[in-house]
Amino acid sequence: MKKYNGFKKLKTAIFISGKGSNFNNLIKFSFKKNSPIKIELLITNNYKAKGLKFAKKYRIRKKIYKYQDKFKTEKKIISDLKKNKIKVICLAGFMKVLSKNFIKNFRGKILNIHPSLLPKYKGLNTHERAIKNKDKISGCTVHFVNSKIDSGKIIMQKKVRIFKTDTPKTLKNRILRQEHMLYPKAIQKVFSSL
Ligand code: GRF
Repeated sequence: MKKYNGFKKLKTAIFISGKGSNFNNLIKFSFKKNSPIKIELLITNNYKAKGLKFAKKYRIRKKIYKYQDKFKTEKKIISDLKKNKIKVICLAGFMKVLSKNFIKNFRGKILNIHPSLLPKYKGLNTHERAIKNKDKISGCTVHFVNSKIDSGKIIMQKKVRIFKTDTPKTLKNRILRQEHMLYPKAIQKVFSSL
């Protein structure tokens, strides 16, 4: 297994809008010797995001943006990322779509996790839709980010069975547990060679 010292790890920014369970999980992963990333910065568009508490707990620098004007906000974010020498970005429940111009600045360096087996169920309410359609299997996907929503190249997926008794909430929680295992694996897969 490849091991990294603190200096060799890639400076990483995590983008969130909500609870931040993936953020918390990635922080813990980043402390491990086999993690290629070191989390330097938390970016959010939501000053009420519950996940902000993890930035406080682990003393990770945070930036909150109002996002009144997308173009201006992205310009500011890019400048803050460059100032902090950020090399890779992991989106984890970030509810804004990044523009083509933004992505151009970090081509092949932005990942996202999505709670469905893409290309099925892009966008919101994935668990409700899977249950409504009587699917037997759902899951989660880590993919590269492009400017179309949930459409970039797929890196890894994990299937999760849907039970007859599932509600969107029970399914969400079961998939979330798998997300926490999948995201670190996908990060290792694509960023270990950088
Ligand atoms: C996860 O289900 C993730 O797949 C999606 O947004 C949710 C974020 O959850 N993109 P959390 O904030 O990490 O708990």
